[in-house]
Amino acid sequence: MFARAYGALALVASVLISPSNAVTYTPLKPPSYPLAVRSPYLSAWIPGNVVESLPSNNAQFWAGNTLVWSVIARVDDTTYNLFGVASPNDGTKSGTVTVATYTSTHSTFTVTAGSRSFTLDFFSPVSPKNYLRQSLPFSYLTVTVAAGDSSSVQIYSDISGGWTGQSSDSTWSYSTSGSTGVFQIEAVGQATYSQNSDGQALWGSAVYATRPSDSSTLSTQSGPRVSVREQFIDNGTLSGNHADWTSGAVVGFAHDLGTISDESAVTFAIGHVREESINFLGAAQTGYYRAKYADTVDAVTYFLDDYDDANSESTDFDNLISDTGSSSFGSNYSDILALSVRQVYGGTELTIPNESLDTSETRAFIKEISSDGNINTVDVIYATFPIFYILSPAYLKLLIGPVFEYMATDAYSENYAVHDLGANYPNATGHVSSGESMPIEESGNIIFLTYAYQLASGETDLYDTYSSQIKTYATYLENNGLYPASQLSLNDALGELANQTNLAVKAAVGLATYGKLADDTSYITTGRDWADKIWTDHLGTDEAGTRFLIQYDITPWFLVYNHYPDVLFGLDVFPDEAYNATSDFYPTVRQDAGIPLDGSLEWGQTNWQGFGAATVSGEARDIFINDIWAYISNGLNTAPFSDKYWTSSGSGYTAGEYNSFRARPTLGSHFALAALSGANTWSS
Ligand SMILES: *[C@@H]1O[C@H](CO)[C@@H](O)[C@H](O)[C@H]1NC(C)=O
Ligand SMILES: *[C@@H]1O[C@H](CO)[C@@H](O)[C@H](O)[C@H]1NC(C)=O
Ligand SMILES: *[C@@H]1O[C@H](CO)[C@@H](O)[C@H](O)[C@H]1NC(C)=O
Ligand SMILES: *[C@@H]1O[C@H](CO)[C@@H](O)[C@H](O)[C@H]1NC(C)=O
Ligand SMILES: *[C@@H]1O[C@H](CO)[C@@H](O)[C@H](O)[C@H]1NC(C)=O
Ligand SMILES: *[C@@H]1O[C@H](CO)[C@@H](O)[C@H](O)[C@H]1NC(C)=O
Repeated sequence: MFARAYGALALVASVLISPSNAVTYTPLKPPSYPLAVRSPYLSAWIPGNVVESLPSNNAQFWAGNTLVWSVIARVDDTTYNLFGVASPNDGTKSGTVTVATYTSTHSTFTVTAGSRSFTLDFFSPVSPKNYLRQSLPFSYLTVTVAAGDSSSVQIYSDISGGWTGQSSDSTWSYSTSGSTGVFQIEAVGQATYSQNSDGQALWGSAVYATRPSDSSTLSTQSGPRVSVREQFIDNGTLSGNHADWTSGAVVGFAHDLGTISDESAVTFAIGHVREESINFLGAAQTGYYRAKYADTVDAVTYFLDDYDDANSESTDFDNLISDTGSSSFGSNYSDILALSVRQVYGGTELTIPNESLDTSETRAFIKEISSDGNINTVDVIYATFPIFYILSPAYLKLLIGPVFEYMATDAYSENYAVHDLGANYPNATGHVSSGESMPIEESGNIIFLTYAYQLASGETDLYDTYSSQIKTYATYLENNGLYPASQLSLNDALGELANQTNLAVKAAVGLATYGKLADDTSYITTGRDWADKIWTDHLGTDEAGTRFLIQYDITPWFLVYNHYPDVLFGLDVFPDEAYNATSDFYPTVRQDAGIPLDGSLEWGQTNWQGFGAATVSGEARDIFINDIWAYISNGLNTAPFSDKYWTSSGSGYTAGEYNSFRARPTLGSHFALAALSGANTWSS
């Protein structure tokens, strides 16, 4: 009895003091908050379930490895750790997190410290039609002290050399441009285009910069972490001494705001720059922004100059994403879309040739983060395409243009489309023969992507330039698509299978799409004939015609999603019965946490659930969207939005837990339903 009474008291006490109860999460607590997510190599996150103790938890690279990035504030000589201080200096206190919020471009945390309240706004711009703004490989951190009692306030922030991807040998330098102070940290003796085992770039440099606000005085210091922070704690200013790099050391800035009662803010820029950013078929590409700001200090100085404009644009952009979600489905959908956006654009980069800096040769590259590191994987672009269709159709041309360029070289001689431009980002040096090959998959995808670009942008240049290649791939589909030989599809975990229904569906819709591109209705007729065979004549369905099967005549069912372009492009390839039947069927096979990819699996992919949501109606659509929402808000996960998760519990996994993938840019698929309302004309 006593023990139970005591337990009850302890429970009451823990409810009262537990910090978790103090935090308000808006709109929900996601698996991981994007902090600085702008490129495959500037990708810093914090897991949602450690946000309640943000002051003592480090940021993480997308792979989960630690990144030292701290914010510490002094209020009337008392020091409060606000963010990223895993080993607090003696005599410091911890701030208290009260609010955590995300939008499509900002992750914001409110932390109280003594009599004052601070907001840490981690802002990664997404400006997909403004290539200069989009390509700058930096992200903002703005620390605002709210109006309050008059007090003396200083704000400190540092990063360690770990942002260069290795801890054994780096150098750093400090320079100024006007009032802007810039630290640059570089790994020593590492090969251009090489990565560490976590996928961090080993070449290029990490950048940390800031400038005094109207009301702050800036000081700087670099050296061993404990002593640099101690200097700030003791004195509120830094010494100006810049020690050589040593392992675990930090570069730090302190802003002295003086004695204030008004609101006041300081902004930092964090980044990772690589002059030679991509190797495209042997020619170095560099960031698009280098056409204007070839020097890193100039680039980051401009980035800080651009803050007000970028920030006000982000308000409009966040509203656009929120409205897009609510008008297409509801607030659950808006919450999913907002969490997806930075991960998509932050998995891509805009480049120009390093030698000419010619912006008429702009290209885009996308990294197949975490699943294998391939560059410009055609099916990854396919999974992602709905977001580009809505927000920035030109990205489709910039991403598949280099694929067409490669396929036109002597190095590529197949009569079907290639899987990728190289096994390891950033080496777009060509598909390796040991790499994956998906003939029908990628031939269909390249046709879809070309037409999606044309439909959303109104431009025919991509098709006009590559029409003979595209005809080759359409011919391949025509000759091989109805009874696909044993081969991989993008769901490569299934292995090589013959007669995959989803591939035949891709071929049928791909041919009809080609008919639109080539203005030749015979291909549309063929696509519809095949669809009749697959659906109406039950080649790819069960005998009663209630569901698609994974392979002809072979159960189990499969979550077919390759007729999504049929719906988006309004092609009328598959009959209404097919759409109605699957709308009725999917709710019957839902598992605890969602609809799996096929009837033999206990995991699903949010990408194909996202496509599926656009091809069904009623309850099935509600299930697809609301289950993704439940998955990102269930508190079971810490990885950056994984597009693959367990839909059922089994040995070693629980329904709603993520399954291996992290931070993949494929989340553009979540916009599939919204894309049915058409491309957006929004621009900055
Ligand atoms: C890219 O190629 C270079 C050699 O040209 C190599 O040093 C580097 O490790 C490669 N990068 C990756 C990620 O494999
Ligand atoms: C503390 O900061 C003041 C300027 O604010 C400076 O004059 C003094 O030397 C600093 N003391 C130490 C120990 O760094
Ligand atoms: C890239 O451009 C810079 C600046 O012109 C040059 O120093 C560097 O050698 C170039 N790199 C390559 C691989 O061409
Ligand atoms: C594909 O399906 C057709 C029709 O059912 C069948 O005749 C053919 O043998 C199958 N191909 C393979 C490789 O199983
Ligand atoms: C499909 O479902 C819609 C809406 O429920 C209905 O109006 C339509 O008649 C159905 N079409 C067929 C061919 O069953
Ligand atoms: C959002 O999804 C959850 C979980 O599936 C569901 O319970 C809730 O009703 C949905 N909210 C709205 C507004 O539809």
